[in-house]
Amino acid sequence: MTQRVVLAYSGGLDTSVCIGWIAEATGAEVVAVAVDVGQGGESLDVIRKRALACGAVEAEVVDAKDEFAQEYCLPAIKANGLYMDRYPLVSALSRPVIVKHLVAAARKHGADTVAHGCTGKGNDQVRFEAGISSLAPDLTCIAPVRDYAMTRDKAIAFAESKGLPIATSKKSPYSIDANVFGRAIETGFLEDIWNGPIEDIYEYTQNPATPREADEVVITFERGVPVAIDGRAVSVLQAVQELNERAGAQGVGRIDIVEDRLVGIKSREVYEAPGAIALITAHQELENVTVERELARYKRQVEQRWSELVYDGLWYSPLKRALDGFVEEANEHVSGDIRMTLHGGRAVVTGRRSGESLYDFSLATYDTGDTFDQSQAKGFIDIFGLSTKIAARRDLAQ
Ligand code: ARG
Repeated sequence: MTQRVVLAYSGGLDTSVCIGWIAEATGAEVVAVAVDVGQGGESLDVIRKRALACGAVEAEVVDAKDEFAQEYCLPAIKANGLYMDRYPLVSALSRPVIVKHLVAAARKHGADTVAHGCTGKGNDQVRFEAGISSLAPDLTCIAPVRDYAMTRDKAIAFAESKGLPIATSKKSPYSIDANVFGRAIETGFLEDIWNGPIEDIYEYTQNPATPREADEVVITFERGVPVAIDGRAVSVLQAVQELNERAGAQGVGRIDIVEDRLVGIKSREVYEAPGAIALITAHQELENVTVERELARYKRQVEQRWSELVYDGLWYSPLKRALDGFVEEANEHVSGDIRMTLHGGRAVVTGRRSGESLYDFSLATYDTGDTFDQSQAKGFIDIFGLSTKIAARRDLAQ
């Protein structure tokens, strides 16, 4: 039987060329798989037909938007997942769900190899291959752009010589990866890290400097899950989509960062993730109200490690799974409402309300009704500060 290769197919020039390129390089049949994670653009049917027209023996398209939101974005919201404290892991979250569908397709079509269109310089190659080897250690991975030196020029020449039904002229100066959780823009003039981003590159967000009316939103969470917006029940996907619109209209969620890639390169990345940033901001504040201090402090360390693991392509790793258990447990009481003003590029929390609140007005107030016994504070501080006091006596005496 002819060998089969499952290709992660986007419908773009590179992966369209990969179909014929892989067939020529390996003699295998290529099964194209496109996964919809909310990247927008062309319809899945158009993409499926293009894969077949480019020589795929089979082409599958999967609507994974709800699954992506529920099983990949939601854990990131619960973990307040921000790599380097700022990047909401947009691309890093989509790779594991794509990987899952690639592996399923490989099984279904009897393929022993999975291919992707990543270069050898980025994180995504790692996320695909480490993900595939975690779910299916028997499968082999190939990356034609990297392994067979399929440069852009060669891809265009190949497409033209074979008459592939794909535009080769309109070359975007940027490398863009988008899904419902956000959009990543890199390369082109952004590679000069002194150059400021121009308005043209943004699609999910309006210019935050444009004068406009503010928007006020109330987000309801149950155990860390966003379940309603302004009192209307929503799925996680709907919550992200609605906040992409509303926070995006206020310019919320633009990020411009020099980022540490796993391969050791520092790279300049521009992101826009209005829904993700609004949800994480709200979720963080609800945790401040409902999570006990020691758990909250420890969780911040877990969040950082969780984000690094996800960024580094270790979604399906034992440590990530174990940390998920911690994050889940820590979200047990994260229920209630957060009110936010979306305006001028910022999502600002203005109110919190929770049946699980640990905020005790009578302990916190400086007005009448104070139940906190201030006379206990002095003794507490004497003992709390004792060890450093003893050390200071020694060190200052020398
Ligand atoms: N640097 C980001 C990350 O590693 C974005 C990658 C986007 N991918 C792309 N092909 N443009 O998550």
